[in-house]
Amino acid sequence: MAYPRISSFKTAGEFRAYLAQAGIDLELDDDLQVGAEAPLAQTYRSANGFTIGNRFCILPMEGWDGTADGHPSELTFRRWRRFGASGAKLIWGGEAVAVRHDGRANPNQLLAGEKTLPDLAALREGLIAAHPGKTDDLLIGLQLTHSGRYSKPNDKRRDEPRILYHHPLLDRRLGIGQDDPVLADDEIKRLIDDFIAAADLAKRAGFAFVDIKHCHGYLGHEFLSAVDRPGPYGGAFENRTRFLREISAGIRANVPGLEIGVRVSVFDFIPFRKGAGGVGEPEELSGPYRFAFGGDGRGLGIDLTEPKKFMDLLASLGIRMVCITAGSPYYNPHLTRPAAFPPSDGYQPPEEPLLGVARQVKVTAELKRYRPDLLVVGSAYTYLQEWLPNVAQRVVRAGDADFIGLGRMVLSYPEMCADVLAGRPLQTRLICRTFSDCTTGPRNGLVSGCYPLDTYYGQLPEAGLLRDMKKNRDELLKSYSPMR
Ligand SMILES: Cc1cc2nc3c(=O)[nH]c(=O)nc-3n(C[C@H](O)[C@H](O)[C@H](O)COP(=O)(O)O)c2cc1C
Repeated sequence: MAYPRISSFKTAGEFRAYLAQAGIDLELDDDLQVGAEAPLAQTYRSANGFTIGNRFCILPMEGWDGTADGHPSELTFRRWRRFGASGAKLIWGGEAVAVRHDGRANPNQLLAGEKTLPDLAALREGLIAAHPGKTDDLLIGLQLTHSGRYSKPNDKRRDEPRILYHHPLLDRRLGIGQDDPVLADDEIKRLIDDFIAAADLAKRAGFAFVDIKHCHGYLGHEFLSAVDRPGPYGGAFENRTRFLREISAGIRANVPGLEIGVRVSVFDFIPFRKGAGGVGEPEELSGPYRFAFGGDGRGLGIDLTEPKKFMDLLASLGIRMVCITAGSPYYNPHLTRPAAFPPSDGYQPPEEPLLGVARQVKVTAELKRYRPDLLVVGSAYTYLQEWLPNVAQRVVRAGDADFIGLGRMVLSYPEMCADVLAGRPLQTRLICRTFSDCTTGPRNGLVSGCYPLDTYYGQLPEAGLLRDMKKNRDELLKSYSPMR
């Protein structure tokens, strides 16, 4: 099923009429405000004493481009400089950094360690140097992770999953046998120590906060759905959140002055697969689907009871910053990053991608209303393309989120934030059209970046390889470039 191109809507009114006709509950402002009164230009003063100079946030975006021993490469440095140059004042984590080798999602993921500390510090310094204007209102964190079920530390083609429980559908996808071991409780305790050590390292590298990643199917997220795991880290909500509570307590005790944030998938669905015509469809499972944190048991619905308890828990731990996301790019990518075109391991959109955007916007608003005291970042805005700023302004103006997170858009068009804040027209040739090359690249062993729109990547040899794989998408790109 083809959906209308976003660039075909020439006015806010036209876009709004389409949303209404398609039954998509998403609001936007007609005009963008500029200057000191503009909602997106407002300074945010957080409960933990941070001053953040505007309402744009750069979401963590990894590039699969570090060295085998976990150091950044020139591509990594360039990406972080562009994060800084964007003008956004909140940098949520930069990118996923593994706290130890076996938890790397790919052999090129950054690693937190004494040897990489100077490089992590240099990434941050490069970002600051590239930032336009003053920097005392720029807040930079580092995302810490263990990739759990999706670990591939040694070879791009070899999964080396570390799991918390046996999952009826995901085990099969990864070739995990029923008797394969799950992480033992004492291994979890050692891993908690690794997170605390990595947090200390982040502090020494100059970062203001660490994100204890709880999203996208990685280990932190898997804890939240470990309903069948016996022992102290599974079963009841209190046990499924013990991992976070113990890391938080360890950081408070050992790394004073470092703030903590959490990026969390607040809802999840059953895994999807390619169905007829390549369109995504839910996997079949008899009986209820109990492994979706924030799910309603059907596998396709949302129940925010536990995510709200999670927000309460964050507040009770003094964790004041939360970045909302959803699902997993591995098994239901249309939830995480709505797109017109799937990556090579994905499926054609099972729904109008704008529904995916609206779903995250709505859930984020409900959670923000529930805990107005928390700093809340929203995600999944990139598919809005030309209308991203108008929806963003409306969201911030209505108090439905404090920050607008930018993911894929920042790879193609980092200056979108600066352009919007300065009241300049958008550079439409740089707007991300969700071709998903930034995911198709790494899924096929290449570095990630915006091959179609960032000329730096367009000239890399990898761009030729990708082009050969997807000739028909280049045709689509040509039709987008000169628009408006
Ligand atoms: C190439 C790529 C790399 C990503 N890397 C990370 C990451 O390191 N950590 C993370 O939490 N999310 C990561 N994400 C998810 C994004 O931060 C974001 O949630 C998602 O792309 C939706 O936002 P968007 O619509 O602005 O792209 C990545 C997404 C892409 C496409």
